[in-house]
Amino acid sequence: MNTYDATRMIDVMAAEGFEETGTMEDADLIILNTCHIRERASEKIFSELGKIRVLKDDQAARGRSVMVGVAGCVAQAEGKEIFRRQKTVDLVVGPQSYHHLAALVEQAKSTPGVTDTEFPLEDKFDHLAAPSEDKTRSRGISAFVTVQEGCDKFCTFCVVPYTRGAEVSRPAVKIINEIRGLVEAGVREVTFLGQNVNGYHGEGPNGEALTFAQLLEEVAKIPDLPRIRYMTSHPNDMDDDLLRVHADIPAVMPFLHLPVQSGSDRILAKMNRGHTAAFYLDLIENSRAARPDIALSSDFIVGFPGETEEDFQATLDLIQRVNFAMTYFFKYSPRPGTPASDMADQVSEEIKSERLARLQALVDEQRHAYNRSKIGQTLDVLFEKAGRYEGQIAGKTPYWQAVQVNGPKSLIGSSAKVMITDVRGNSLFGQLIQPIGVAE
Ligand code: 5AD
Ligand code: SF4
Repeated sequence: MNTYDATRMIDVMAAEGFEETGTMEDADLIILNTCHIRERASEKIFSELGKIRVLKDDQAARGRSVMVGVAGCVAQAEGKEIFRRQKTVDLVVGPQSYHHLAALVEQAKSTPGVTDTEFPLEDKFDHLAAPSEDKTRSRGISAFVTVQEGCDKFCTFCVVPYTRGAEVSRPAVKIINEIRGLVEAGVREVTFLGQNVNGYHGEGPNGEALTFAQLLEEVAKIPDLPRIRYMTSHPNDMDDDLLRVHADIPAVMPFLHLPVQSGSDRILAKMNRGHTAAFYLDLIENSRAARPDIALSSDFIVGFPGETEEDFQATLDLIQRVNFAMTYFFKYSPRPGTPASDMADQVSEEIKSERLARLQALVDEQRHAYNRSKIGQTLDVLFEKAGRYEGQIAGKTPYWQAVQVNGPKSLIGSSAKVMITDVRGNSLFGQLIQPIGVAE
């Protein structure tokens, strides 16, 4: 979502005559868009700001003024505290107020120290220029679109409900218009974003609320958009309609990112997840019944307060039973203001590291086996860019695997059948069989 927000901030400043620079050294305005989800992400900002301070001072010595902003969830959580920790910052803007960025930049020229971390009543998306209005910037082949933001679930480890705010769904018409603009600009795959994307319940074209499955159905009608993806879903908001959409609509890709966090019911309860491991395993079975080839992915936290070896074993067991195509895993990081950070029995760093390594070994093995299972198969690949080496092009399978083939750049933006021949690292390699649609 930060990638998407950064694109929209560029849209805002482009409307003011700003252009994106290739390097920080060439910039008059530097915005760090920040993440607060774990401590490490958050702390990185301050070391980065230290480097930017040196750059800004160097530029000032040459008579050039550079403005520095901090955006995103660290901005939201720390507000004015950021100016105290790093004086080089001129403005701070939260994730729900960046449509005011141009005005803030103007204000900061005369009064550095400007802050906007409000959750305004007006919809920020209404104040952002449509992508189709700017024909000069390429949107690439695969683009993100936020359809839902914020979260009301309050998992005890998570800052999102505090930094991104309450759950809000964008009206379907606005989403559809934004996607039409992207398709016009050459985009062939959109990924719907939301912290709780399958809990979507935005206003539909005739004024009634749409479910997430209905939103997918509506967007699938847009011509020249062969691929739709979405993340991140919550197990409690999965329904049969969404699985039916996976079975019936070819544009909805066979990939499901469904975080479970832990395989232990005791820990899931302490996390306030609102579901058990058995409930999750049932969902996985139903997803595979609806779409047998669906690729599954999840998030895990190791070392949540009170996690015993037995709880951790339950997590490994769940992973064994599901067989994930890919997995994201994190050491539990106590976040200020969240209930879990005050829980007794915090797990030591040493145990967290040891468990993380064991989990990583298992999920790496599953990912590799999953990738290798595609060798010999012929898959549709949507080509997105030039490959690593001259003469190569790179794309993705329906299962979100990166593929490299020898082929002409003219295929970028279109799909072709590829026979998978090898896997190296996390990349698949293959041979072009025949193009199935060529970009205009
Ligand atoms: N510590 C570690 N991981 C976290 N996540 C969210 N909060 C924390 C935390 N405090 C992980 C969860 C979530 C993903 C986006 O980040 O696994 O699904
Ligand atoms: Fe955070 Fe996701 Fe839980 Fe919401 S559902 S509180 S975003 S982990």
